[in-house]
Amino acid sequence: MPVETPLIEFRDVTKRFGDQTVLDQVNLKIYENQITTIMAKAVRAKSVLLKHFIGLLSPDAGTIFFLGRPLDKMRRREWDRYRSQISYLFQNNALFDSMTVFDNIALPLRQTTNLSRKEIEQKVMARIEQTELTEAADKYPSQLSGGMQKRVAWHDLS
Ligand SMILES: Nc1ncnc2c1ncn2[C@@H]1O[C@H](COP(=O)(O)OP(=O)(O)O)[C@@H](O)[C@H]1O
Ligand SMILES: [Mg+2]
Repeated sequence: MPVETPLIEFRDVTKRFGDQTVLDQVNLKIYENQITTIMAKAVRAKSVLLKHFIGLLSPDAGTIFFLGRPLDKMRRREWDRYRSQISYLFQNNALFDSMTVFDNIALPLRQTTNLSRKEIEQKVMARIEQTELTEAADKYPSQLSGGMQKRVAWHDLS
């Protein structure tokens, strides 16, 4: 059987903050169609690792590959295509407190597409209904249960 190219690969990835080395020559392969769990004690750089996947952080040494392509060699268009295939859910949901459920879900569409107001409303309401959040559409995150907040946070329609 041919050796499969990993979806994501870390090769000797090192990350430092000041004189603290938080990732020390990390090697990691993640394959398509598998569920991979990253486990470590608190403050052992799990979040730092994940932030490298999406370019929020970049390594001080080593290379990260997506299907064999080094992330740091990708130009804008390829990078955007790569990023558009990734979804993530924040530990604390990362919702905007001052915005309703509807507006939280609509935000990425308003910011990153040229869809009309009406088209955005249709898409957002369809998702809201699909995830049984209809009653909550006009509520603020603090008025929701934890499970409802998670469902709002999961939406990324962009
Ligand atoms: N932007 C940053 N600047 C400086 N230090 C950071 C930064 N982000 C994370 N760290 C440090 O990296 C270490 C790992 O943090 P983190 O990845 O959040 O841990 P975990 O997710 O495993 O609990 C911690 O010591 C944290 O203080
Ligand atoms: Mg963390």
